[in-house]
Amino acid sequence: MSIHKVQAKRVTTHTLQEMKNVGEKITMLTAYDYSFARIIDDAGIDVILVGDSASNVMHGHETTLPITLQQMIDHGAAVVKACKRALVVVDMPFGTYQGDSLNALQSSIRIMKETGAHAVKMEGGEFILESVSRIVNAGIPVMGHLGLMPQSIYKYGTYVVRAKEELEAEQLKKDAIKLQEAGCFAIVLEKIPAKLAKEVSMMLHIPVIGIGAGNGCDGQVLVTQDMLGILKDFSPRFLRRYANLYEVMKKAFEQYAVDVKTGDFPNEKESY
Ligand code: KIV
Repeated sequence: MSIHKVQAKRVTTHTLQEMKNVGEKITMLTAYDYSFARIIDDAGIDVILVGDSASNVMHGHETTLPITLQQMIDHGAAVVKACKRALVVVDMPFGTYQGDSLNALQSSIRIMKETGAHAVKMEGGEFILESVSRIVNAGIPVMGHLGLMPQSIYKYGTYVVRAKEELEAEQLKKDAIKLQEAGCFAIVLEKIPAKLAKEVSMMLHIPVIGIGAGNGCDGQVLVTQDMLGILKDFSPRFLRRYANLYEVMKKAFEQYAVDVKTGDFPNEKESY
């Protein structure tokens, strides 16, 4: 039995809209390379996000700020090669769209041309509206991102839950409506109260994908390495671990080391 109500050979922005319309939840996970993307795509996940969390997960940086446009393009191109069904969205990295809208358009065009991805994602509300409109008008689908925006971590000073206060919650709702009006096909809401996320999801006609935003959104996204338990040191309350791959992989590496050191590997059958 298929887990999908809305059947699609290739998921498009229209498929996601249809899913919202019929009440089918949207699944989204991050990937940064070919092998992970292949497994995620085979598993039938609807959207693969080449997140700028690659900065932390793949490059070991403390924040998402240092990753470059070229690095995001390299990750994006590898992921696209693996995907037969999923919609692939590539994050626009810090510094490639906050300046002026022409610069934003040029960055998004590079991503689309050089990766083959289907959409880009950008963090921010009213300050990026001109860029969003310009990119959408060029025919490039844009996913918005509000709530906790890791590219602004030095402004916030902390990764705690956003929009708990009335003023920030009201601003977030206004930003969400403006992003929808500017042409975003979907919005990610990160680490905000579940009640607010549900309200925004019901208020917008475009799909809302949550991370740490409760169960009232139209879909959910997680960082793959976190949900697989590959990186153990990040364990926020919203994260559900579906595996403990750190231990599984470490055991395999340790066993390999023992087998090589003892001369057990390779054996006769494994030799020519
Ligand atoms: O970069 C990323 O992985 C993201 C998700 C957390 C939504 O933006």
